[in-house]
Amino acid sequence: MFAAEAPYLYNPPCMYGDVERILYSREVIEERVKELAGQVVGAYRDRPFVAAVALNGAFMFAADLVRHLPQKIEMVFVRASSYENGTSPMKAPEVTIPESVDVEGQHVLLIEDIVDTGRTVEALRREFLARGAATVRICAFLDKPTRRQVSVDVEFTGFVLPDDAFVVGYGLDYSGRYRNLPFLGTLKAPKA
Ligand code: PRP
Repeated sequence: MFAAEAPYLYNPPCMYGDVERILYSREVIEERVKELAGQVVGAYRDRPFVAAVALNGAFMFAADLVRHLPQKIEMVFVRASSYENGTSPMKAPEVTIPESVDVEGQHVLLIEDIVDTGRTVEALRREFLARGAATVRICAFLDKPTRRQVSVDVEFTGFVLPDDAFVVGYGLDYSGRYRNLPFLGTLKAPKA
C-alpha cells in the first residue's frame, strides 16, 4: 500500500482514487532501479557515455537512474512520439533529436520508459547511428516483449510486463495524466 498517499485516496480531485492496483511500489522500483544502475555501471566501467532520455515518458526513470551513475555522462533529451497513420494501423514514430546533440564517436545509452512494438527505440537507435554514434545501448524501465513488431535488443530492463497490462505512473501516462504517480499501477475502468 502507498502509505504516504493513503490520506488522499478519497479526495475527489486526487489521482490516487483512480488507481485500481499497484504493480510496483515506489520502494520496489527504487530497488530495481538501483540494480539496473549497477548493471549499467558494470557495462560502461570507466568509459564516458551520452545518456539520451526519450521524452516524455522516461523523465522520472532517467532522473532516478542517473543519480546512481558515477560515470562522466552527458545528458541529452530527445523526443519520439507515435501516431496512428490513417491508412495503416502501424505506429510511425516521429523522432526529434536536436541539431545541437553531437554523438559522433560517442557511446549512447538510450533511456526509455517502455519498449512496446520496439519502433520508437529502433527509430532513435538508427538516428543516433546515422549521426555517428559508436554504440547505442537501450535501457528501458519496462518491456513488453510479446508486443514486439521490430527486433530490438533491450540490454537493460527494469520489469517485463504481460502484453495486456495497461499501466500508468512513474512517467507513463493516460491521456497526459498520471505521469507523476510515484509507483506503477493500473487504472480503474472509467464510470459509465
Ligand atoms: C511511448 C513510450 C515509448 C513508446 C513505446 O511514447 O514512452 O517512447 O511509446 O512504444 P513502441 O515501442 O511501440 O514504439 P509515446 O509516444 O506514448 O509518448 P510519451 O513518451 O510522451 O508518453
